[in-house]
Amino acid sequence: MTVTTNKPSTEAAPVELVTFTIDGTEVSVPKGTLIIRAAEQAGIQIPRFCDHPLLAPAGACRQCLVEVAMPDREGNVRPMPKPQASCTMTVAPGMVVKTQHTSAVADKAQQGVMELLLMNHPLDCPVCDKGGECPLQNQAMSNGRPDTRFVDVKRTFPKPIALSTQILLDRERCVLCQRCTRFSEEIAGDAFIALQDRGAHQQIGRYDEDVLGFADGSTANGPVDRPIGEATTDTSGRPFSSYYSGNTVQICPVGALTGAGYRFRSRPFDLVSTESIAEHDSCGSAIRIDHRRGQVLRRLSGEDPVVNEEWITDKDRFAFTWQSAPDRITTPLVREDGELRPASWVEALEIAAAGLATARQNGGVGVLPGGRLTVEDAFAWSRFSRTALATNDVDQRARVHSAEEAAFLGHVVAGSGIGVTFGDLEQAPAVLLVGLEAEEEAGITFLRLRKGSMGGRAGGKAGTKVFSIAPYATRGLTRMAGTLLPAAPGTEAEWLHSLTTSLAGGLLPADAPTSDIDTSALAQPGAVILVGERLAGSPGAYAAAVGLAEATGARLAWIPRRAGERGGVEAGLLPDLLPGGRPVADAAARAQVAEAWGAEIPATPGRDTAGILDALTSGALGGALVGGVELADLPDPDAARAALDAAGFVVSLEVRFSEVTERADVVLPVAPPVERAGSYWNWEGRVRSFGAALDSSALPDHRVLHVLAQQLGVDLQAASPAEAHLSIAMTQRDAWDGDRLTVQDSGPAEPPAVGPGQAVLATWRLQLDAGRGQDGEQFLAGTAKQAVARMSAATADGFGVADGNRVAISTPRGTVEVPVAVTDRMVDGVVWLPLNSAGSRVHDTLGATAGDLVTVTATERTEGNAR
Ligand code: SF4
Ligand code: FES
Repeated sequence: MTVTTNKPSTEAAPVELVTFTIDGTEVSVPKGTLIIRAAEQAGIQIPRFCDHPLLAPAGACRQCLVEVAMPDREGNVRPMPKPQASCTMTVAPGMVVKTQHTSAVADKAQQGVMELLLMNHPLDCPVCDKGGECPLQNQAMSNGRPDTRFVDVKRTFPKPIALSTQILLDRERCVLCQRCTRFSEEIAGDAFIALQDRGAHQQIGRYDEDVLGFADGSTANGPVDRPIGEATTDTSGRPFSSYYSGNTVQICPVGALTGAGYRFRSRPFDLVSTESIAEHDSCGSAIRIDHRRGQVLRRLSGEDPVVNEEWITDKDRFAFTWQSAPDRITTPLVREDGELRPASWVEALEIAAAGLATARQNGGVGVLPGGRLTVEDAFAWSRFSRTALATNDVDQRARVHSAEEAAFLGHVVAGSGIGVTFGDLEQAPAVLLVGLEAEEEAGITFLRLRKGSMGGRAGGKAGTKVFSIAPYATRGLTRMAGTLLPAAPGTEAEWLHSLTTSLAGGLLPADAPTSDIDTSALAQPGAVILVGERLAGSPGAYAAAVGLAEATGARLAWIPRRAGERGGVEAGLLPDLLPGGRPVADAAARAQVAEAWGAEIPATPGRDTAGILDALTSGALGGALVGGVELADLPDPDAARAALDAAGFVVSLEVRFSEVTERADVVLPVAPPVERAGSYWNWEGRVRSFGAALDSSALPDHRVLHVLAQQLGVDLQAASPAEAHLSIAMTQRDAWDGDRLTVQDSGPAEPPAVGPGQAVLATWRLQLDAGRGQDGEQFLAGTAKQAVARMSAATADGFGVADGNRVAISTPRGTVEVPVAVTDRMVDGVVWLPLNSAGSRVHDTLGATAGDLVTVTATERTEGNAR
């Protein structure tokens, strides 16, 4: 089966140039270029505060004033009567611009604006977090008056206001540039912060009646009698609710917005900065790690126009303390008399190697590397499994998984290089999301999709139409003006088949779900289908997605949740797949890998994660080698615990103590991303390399596996990153052009018979939840969404509950009790729970996955709603 694509032509249209003069130099730039950008291209610096290349021009601060002269109809160049904001005016043919470098008028205007801004600005640079990296401080030196003429008392406000547990606002420092509010509206689409009041009292605040007192008509500065607009709150009632709020701190040109975790902790000039890649999702966002004396103090967004532009999620920004948590494993451990005790590396490696060799004799070793590995580690794990352990019983998927998914990954994803890109999402006429909630599961993907849905910030194109096959219209979908294709979990394939028929021009059955929604944009050239890892729980959906792509020519991409999964697919961390998309069952594919790795490759496809755990329980496998796996992520954590308890021998490679290390016979500590170099393969197929930010003696997985393999008599060629790269290159030297895995349609499954008091469970993980990657970051935890049970009004009515009432969601395994959130545009008969949030641990408590039946019982009812 081949996926054909109808990618539109990328041939660039000729650029129309405009020639003008700036500071006496004639410059040609593309038509539509702002004066301030043209100046940058000419190497001329103009001071600015509100201007930001990724935000729409606002002209809010007036710091960028320049003198402009324009030719009239007769061609006479006449000066404009007043200085102009260079960040809002585009260049025109024959225009003459004089900046502060050549114009006394512009210089005086800029000094005047600066004087006005500093009039009420506190001179607290020595204690301000922005001091040392502050555009106001810097530009006051370069473009301000040498002396102050202001002798009066400055305006002050109570401070700081906690906009959220994470973001603090010192209003007296604000220069009203509106970068933060424009980011909120234009980029994130979360109206969580607003410009309030007018004149001297104008200030930034949040939509929260308790802080500024607008609700009862009074403010910190006296009464007002006008409404400020409707508050935007999430179900927790928190107004500053955004997964992207930290970006406002970074782009605030003064110290008005600060992060609670970093506030007063350091001075910028004491920090050492290292460029890196965020480890929390598969987007591969560029970040900057700022550290001092071996301690990470903050993370900022890096600049990468093709991936995350200049934005990152709050999780990527603030969730880094897990890497230095008190439960870090610092020394190898071996089990003796039932207890783990510290051991030397030599002793631990010898015991681990001997135990694995014995387990290999006693049925084999199951390998569960987890989905958070770097590319270097993933190839080392794959090679270790196939050569040192002689097994294909290897599966990185510590989550819901299926054989159909493994075949899909081998068929569509592995060895496909860079496919759909973030840029393609912005340009696509339509994008279909299936089994993927982009904001929760791949945060930067959401921002790029939203940008596309708004026509891109360059404008000039129709907005990308976003469709989502999902049980309800999420807030993220609404902010992309997206269209819900409503589907109960497990029925996604029905929609995909129906779209295939209708978009390919076929006749639809009368009850087809596409009948009243215009989805024709999905058949246009450049349309994209994004499938998430959750489709593994929906039989037939992956095959149907492939069918839709083939029928319409739409391009297909897979977006997993974890940072290492795409690299793991490329490395062959799946039971039927070798590196580069080579099927295990193909003799020629095995021969190529055997030549690269210098060892025979076992011929039989192995067990998947569920099969490995079953085999450990039954004793069919003699032991397990486990990487960064959280047992609570698995569909049945209890069964996984029992399997590791029953396993003959377990070796764990881990950063921190976990449920796996509790059960391991040997624990080998490995380095977190901040203490090692490596690379991730992001979902686009782009390799994202990073260096070690902190000096450390901790070893990366590939190095630990290299020495473990030596104990077993195998050279893994992964002693250093350079050697690991050479080893990887050997398997990549020739692209695999043989047969690939084929996707067998395993669905559709028989829909469950929903009885009285029952509903179908929908569930996925929220971006901020109870995951261990956010451990230790209390301020961030305060911005996580509260666990609720979402259901339609009709469904809630059927259970006799109303919005806010508490319900018990039960299976024979256990019960989750949370408040109801009655949700518009939601499929009836479905109840949605966050998969792994405080108060809602679906796998662990319910032992259930999406599509399973649950029992819903009201534990609290609104009067009049009882039944
Ligand atoms: Fe600008 Fe910062 Fe004030 Fe927002 S808080 S308007 S970013 S100075
Ligand atoms: Fe031009 Fe603010 S930078 S008005």
